[in-house]
Amino acid sequence: MASLLRTASLARPSISRSIARPAPRIFTSTILQRNYASAERSFFPDEPEAPVVKTPIPGPKSTKVIERLSKVFDTRSLNMVAEYPKSIGNYIADPDGNVLLDVYAQIASIPVGYNNPSLLLAAQSPEMTSAIINRPALGNFPQHDWADILETGILKVAPKGLNQVFTGQSGSDANELAYKAAFMWKRQQERGGAGVDFSEQEISSAMNNNSPGAPGLSILSFRKAFHGRLFGSLSTTRSKPIHKLDIPAFDWPQAPFPACKYPLDQYAEENQAEEQRCLAETERLIKEWHNPPAAIIVEPIQSEGGDNHASPNFFRGLREITRKHNVLFIVDEVQTGVGATGKFWAHEHWGLQDPPDMVTFSKKAQTAGYYFGNNELKPNKPYRQFNTWMGDPARALLFRAIIEEIERHDLVRNTAVTGQYLYEGLENLAERYPKEIANLRGKGQGTFIAWDSPRRDEVLKLAKGHGINIGGSGEMAVRLRPMLIFQKHHADLLLEKLEKIFKS
Ligand SMILES: Cc1ncc(COP(=O)(O)O)c(C=O)c1O
Repeated sequence: MASLLRTASLARPSISRSIARPAPRIFTSTILQRNYASAERSFFPDEPEAPVVKTPIPGPKSTKVIERLSKVFDTRSLNMVAEYPKSIGNYIADPDGNVLLDVYAQIASIPVGYNNPSLLLAAQSPEMTSAIINRPALGNFPQHDWADILETGILKVAPKGLNQVFTGQSGSDANELAYKAAFMWKRQQERGGAGVDFSEQEISSAMNNNSPGAPGLSILSFRKAFHGRLFGSLSTTRSKPIHKLDIPAFDWPQAPFPACKYPLDQYAEENQAEEQRCLAETERLIKEWHNPPAAIIVEPIQSEGGDNHASPNFFRGLREITRKHNVLFIVDEVQTGVGATGKFWAHEHWGLQDPPDMVTFSKKAQTAGYYFGNNELKPNKPYRQFNTWMGDPARALLFRAIIEEIERHDLVRNTAVTGQYLYEGLENLAERYPKEIANLRGKGQGTFIAWDSPRRDEVLKLAKGHGINIGGSGEMAVRLRPMLIFQKHHADLLLEKLEKIFKS
C-alpha cells in the first residue's frame, strides 16, 4: 500500500512530462533503432522494467488453482490465473511469480492500470463505502447526490450533442436498453405522440407476445458485429455461431459490413466502392425488411468480429441514411470508447455534423449505459424503462475517478501518440516478417491496432512464454488492447518480444 501511494505521488507530475517532451537519447532499441522511448518517465514508477517469466504458464501453483476451481466453476474459457494484488500498472501477475506485460487488459476493460493509486483512493473514500453497502434502487430511491455524481462523471464525458444517460450493468445490457428506447420511440411516433394512450388491442396483444402490442419491429446490425449475449443483443450479434447456437432469436436484418483492404488509405478507391455497396444494401434492408428497423447499431471498429475497420465516410453515410428513413443511429462504443482510439469516443473520428441518437458504453468505463439527447427517447410513462438497480453509484464513482485520471495525465493524447509510435514499429516488423503480420490495421486509431496472423493461436500462446499477454479477435486477428497508460517504452518491449516470437 505504502508503495502504491508513493507511486501515486510520483506518477502524477511524471506523466505529463513524459508526454510533453521527448526524453533524452539514452538507449537505442536493438530491434527498431528507436531512440527515445525507453528513457520515458513511467506513469507507474514501481512497474517492473520487463516481464518476469519463471515457469511455463500455467505453472504449478496456477495448475492447482485451476484444478480446484474446475470443480465449482467452468474453467474451459480460462486464459490465465491472475493474482491481482501483485499486478501493477500494465503488468499482470500470476500465482507462480510470472509477471506479464498485459496488452489485453481484461478484454479491453482496464483503463488506467492495475492497482492504480488514484482509484485505490477513490475506492476507500466514505462515499464509495456508502455506495457499496447502501446500494440504491436508483429508479425509486436515488441517493441525494446522484445528479452530482452523474454530472461530474459519466455526463462530463458525454459525446457531443448528447446530454442525458440511462445507466445499466454491462455492455449487453446497455445495448438492450438502447433497443428498448428505440422501439418505444418508434411506436410512440406511429401512435401519434407521447400523449396518445395505448389501445385496448395493444394492451391485450402485448400480454400474448403478439402484434401490435409486441410489434414486428427490428434492430439492424452488421455482419461480424458483436453487441452482446443477452437475448436482444445476441440477435444483433453476428460474429460467431458458437455464441448464438440453440438460442431463439429475433427475425432481424443484418447488413454487410465493408470488407475493406488495409491499409485503408492505400486502397481508398476500392474501399470506397465496397462501402457504397454496403450502404446501398443497408438502405435496401431498412426499406424492405418485413420487420422494419427502429434503429441500426454499429461498432466504430468491429472488435470481437475480427477488428474490422471502415472509413469515416461509411459511418457518415449510415448517419445520413438513418436520418432519411427516420431510423435511429446507435453507436456501440462498449469496446472502442474511453480513450483507446486516440479520441475519447471513437466516433469523434468521423466528423459527424449530426450526433448519433444513442451511444452505448461499458468496459473501460467500468459502468455501463447509453447516452442520448432527444427527450423523445424517454418513454412516455415511468416504469417502461426500469429495473431494480438502474446502474450503480459505486461503479459511477469509479468511472469518475478514471475520468479524473485520464484528464490529469492527458491519457487520450498519450494513446494517440503511443499508438502512432507502436503502429510505425509494427509496420517495420510487418516489412521484415510479412508472413507473420498481414493486414496491419488501426493507423491513426490510437493503440486500437490489430493484424492477421496465419498462426494466430500459436502466437498468442508463445507470447505468454515471452511475458506478454495478448488477445485475439475473429478467426485470425491478433488484437492489441493495451491500457491508456501504455507508453513508448512498453511499445518497444512489445515489439522486441514479437520479433522473438516471429523468429521462434
Ligand atoms: C462492441 C461490444 N458491444 C457489446 C459487448 C457486450 O458487453 P458485455 O460483455 O459487457 O455484455 C461487447 C463485449 O465484448 C463489445 O465488444
